[in-house]
Amino acid sequence: MHVENDAVLVAAARGAAEHAYAPYSKFRVGAAVLTAAGEIVTGCNVENAAYGSSICAEVTAIVTAVSQGARSMSAIAVACLDADSLDGAYPCGNCRQIINEFGITRIIVTTAVGESRSHTNAELLPYGFFLNPESDD
Ligand code: THU
Repeated sequence: MHVENDAVLVAAARGAAEHAYAPYSKFRVGAAVLTAAGEIVTGCNVENAAYGSSICAEVTAIVTAVSQGARSMSAIAVACLDADSLDGAYPCGNCRQIINEFGITRIIVTTAVGESRSHTNAELLPYGFFLNPESDD
């Protein structure tokens, strides 16, 4: 996907955020991942009364893509409907590691004023941790 099409991925992320289950934080997040096959797969955050069991939007999107057979992804957009700062919804540390696993090289973050910022994986997770899988499962 080229930069001029980022708006498509961002719109998908915003749409997914509408489905967020965030009754505790009231912080609705959506994510849209672009697979190597060119498909867009979305996810939202899903919270839990046991707060630590909550799942981030990026994880929902990536895990859904993997469960549909994807193993390689190129970009992910993240959007929050309730951001109260101009800094945007940046992936948390755990999400950055999961983004790293599937080769996503570009992370598009949107700010409260609708601005999109494109970051490389190396910017958000320098010296990310990898192992060499023994098979291509
Ligand atoms: N959240 C995400 O979905 N993605 C992030 O990268 C940061 C945080 C969610 C988790 C929780 O449901 C809410 O935002 C507040 O932390």
